[in-house]
Amino acid sequence: MAHLHLVDRSKTCLSSVLGHATTLEIKHGRGCYLIDYADQAYLDFGAGIAVNSTGHCHPEVVAAIHTQSQTLLHGCAGVIYYDQNILLAEELGRITNGELSSVFFTQSGTEAIEAALKCAMYVRNAQQIVSFNGGFHGRTLGSLSVTTSNPNYVDRYPMAIPHRIVLEYPYFFRNNPPLHTESGYSDYLKNALSAVDANQTAAVIIEPFLGEGGYVPAPASVLQILRDWCNATGVFLIFDEIQSGIGRTGQWFYYQHYAITPDILTTAKGIASGLPLGACLSTPSIMAAWKTGSHGGTYGGNPLTCAAACATLRILQDQLPTVTTLGEHAYARLQAAFANHPYVGDIRAKGLMIGIEWVTETGAPNAEIVKRIRDRCLQNQLLILSCGRHGHVIRLMPPLIITKDELDEGLTRFIDACHHVLS
Ligand SMILES: Cc1ncc(COP(=O)(O)O)c(C=O)c1O
Repeated sequence: MAHLHLVDRSKTCLSSVLGHATTLEIKHGRGCYLIDYADQAYLDFGAGIAVNSTGHCHPEVVAAIHTQSQTLLHGCAGVIYYDQNILLAEELGRITNGELSSVFFTQSGTEAIEAALKCAMYVRNAQQIVSFNGGFHGRTLGSLSVTTSNPNYVDRYPMAIPHRIVLEYPYFFRNNPPLHTESGYSDYLKNALSAVDANQTAAVIIEPFLGEGGYVPAPASVLQILRDWCNATGVFLIFDEIQSGIGRTGQWFYYQHYAITPDILTTAKGIASGLPLGACLSTPSIMAAWKTGSHGGTYGGNPLTCAAACATLRILQDQLPTVTTLGEHAYARLQAAFANHPYVGDIRAKGLMIGIEWVTETGAPNAEIVKRIRDRCLQNQLLILSCGRHGHVIRLMPPLIITKDELDEGLTRFIDACHHVLS
């Protein structure tokens, strides 16, 4: 097939505001691979930023979309009732153990955050939000107000939520003493929370496994401190699991590893295998206090996206233990390859959410090396992405249906690329 010059053409017709991580021109996707116009197959360890949980074009997802497309494309969940919408809400309640069984659907992650914040503000009748440094919650003005992962995202934009408190994240590897240990951090957090005026505060929002900010899991003790403070004050605890949810860490949601349940949960990305869907989940009593009509939307919970999501959850249901095993295997291989390497500062992983932090000789964030490794990986036909404030962390987030052979193949290409760059 003729080369389509997509990169060149994009320059004349697409806004340059959207950055591009690669210049790959892709014809189609299949399983864990993206195939370009020269028929080169790239192993996809980025999964469209943790979206292609079931890989590319999983036959069961495609079949579900196809079947749904023949009966109802849209009707608006705010106008009519239809099966897929209710089915998916019921399923989400089930996978959150019946605790977060009331669902508001959106089309994206950022809108799920808007819903979570608005729900908390409305029900608590308070406007202040406590968030965490390095958090990424989205790019619409509300979610941007609690996003601190990169100063570029907020430059020249007003803070739609003026009453904000930003606390340090439990990023022990980068935090300054005494916040670099669990006990030092815990003291800091308890102290900081005790100074917060709970009556003015709607919610505490945190990514329990920091994504864009550097792939950093929060320990159970920290989540428990937040839970306890919220229990004591009535402030809502929001877990943003838009990146870490839907099986990515080996449980449906990261918080389930520790059974520390939020009041409000946001999900999106991997939920519908690539169709645009997000959701804000909460308890029936909190949702019932959110006055009907005080929030809404035209497309949220659209039939096609819900059908894709129901199929996605069905496929992933039996895959969660495998995600854990594959993640442990990947972690062990990466540790063996890099544990004592002077440029590898830290390796953090839970399931198939894996971050490798790169440092310079002085321990500073090393974005330069990450860029070179990413380029080399592309030459090895492996697509990987970075994260972290400085772009100094490599994140590996392959589709969750990846086989052990495919995972090993990708890791071999990755380790080979690293050795090439480091040699
Ligand atoms: C944790 C988290 N929250 C929110 C978002 C925003 O989601 P979206 O890009 O679908 O608006 C993202 C996207 O990367 C995310 O990782």
